[in-house]
Amino acid sequence: MKFKLVPLLAAVGLMGSFGAAHAAGVTLTISCGTVGQDYEWCKRATGDWAKKTGNQVKHLSVPASTTDILGLYRRMFAAKSSDVDVVVVDVVWPGIIKDHLIDLKPYSKGIESQHFPAIVKNNTVDGKLLAMPWFTDAGLLFYRKDLLDKYKLSPPKTWAELEAAATTIQAGERKAGVSDFQGFVFQGKAYEGLTCDAVEWVASNGGGTIVDSKGDITINNPKAAAALDMAAKWVGKITPPGVLNYAEEDARGVFQTGKAAFMRNWPYAWSLAQGNDSVIKGKVAVSALPAGEGGKAAAALGGWQLAVPKYSKHPAEAADLVMYLTSEAVQKDRAIGGSYNPTYPSLYKDKDVLAANPFFGSLYDVFINATPRPSTVTGLKYNEVSQAFWQATHNVLEGKQSGADSVKALEARLKQIKRQGW
Ligand code: GLC
Repeated sequence: MKFKLVPLLAAVGLMGSFGAAHAAGVTLTISCGTVGQDYEWCKRATGDWAKKTGNQVKHLSVPASTTDILGLYRRMFAAKSSDVDVVVVDVVWPGIIKDHLIDLKPYSKGIESQHFPAIVKNNTVDGKLLAMPWFTDAGLLFYRKDLLDKYKLSPPKTWAELEAAATTIQAGERKAGVSDFQGFVFQGKAYEGLTCDAVEWVASNGGGTIVDSKGDITINNPKAAAALDMAAKWVGKITPPGVLNYAEEDARGVFQTGKAAFMRNWPYAWSLAQGNDSVIKGKVAVSALPAGEGGKAAAALGGWQLAVPKYSKHPAEAADLVMYLTSEAVQKDRAIGGSYNPTYPSLYKDKDVLAANPFFGSLYDVFINATPRPSTVTGLKYNEVSQAFWQATHNVLEGKQSGADSVKALEARLKQIKRQGW
């Protein structure tokens, strides 16, 4: 069945140049991400696979926000659309879209054992390997080391130190004539990205992870409330009010044009900040995010997988493309060129990967100890849980509700979503 709402971008592959081999090939459609360099890197690797195999690959244009991509997939899966053969899968989705993906075990030949076991476990539901790990993610603090030096400040270890440093730098830079200079930018829009940022604030303040690993709702506690109040205090002070509508690329836009001292973002922002056309090239450093008072720094665990929907007409070729894209060689290339964190532990010892991304080595512990969102325990209901959380957080950032009132109302809402169980 055709899914007409979805525009297709240009076909990638060698039109006509393979003669008979090409004629025998199939045309697959893949959806890669569209954040940062996602499309360029995906196009390059799928083009290589097309060349090797004599098949063709088209790209399905997807929205930037993971929340919107999930909405699109849900509509396509409900229609059993065969318009897409390979899909990118957010680390929090396997429990939500499990009924629509094929088991990749018959195609993987055991290669999954070379990836981080926790990610493979996350992608395995009811004994089926529903997705292959493609890259992992963890929330990081990016900062302008030149400006910390200029104002004789040290990299912040706590949120209070970050706030103080951001206040000093913002005031100094504005005085020096950069009237729109900002202290700190992050993802404050009402979507999954805000869930990630707020999980970091709450967990780093000792306020838990919304729902714990046993399935109990834990969000209504004073430390969680204080963490949300802390972030609300930044808005309009060290963070522009526009942050309420910022996703990853909006935050990066401000930071990369040299207009912010600190940014919370994912590793992909590194290679772009270091790009030849970047005005902040050579001026940026990356560290773990700060800790709350008496708490421990927390990085939200993110990351993307590749999977084959059950409705694909070419599952064997689609699975072959997934295995190619998630292979160690392709992940190495993407790590070096795009700062995508590999899912093979071995690549964290690779000297070329480390030369391009020194923080893959220095922050290795941050990557392997990142804080998961409660997606496994809440399964099919995760998106509703996350939506309730990001809305509750957004209300506090907007100044509509106090942290305490917001987490209290959120607890009641989560009980409604949970009903008899997750
Ligand atoms: C990144 C993460 C993903 C997360 C998303 C939120 O893409 O890898 O896991 O859900 O950001 O915006």
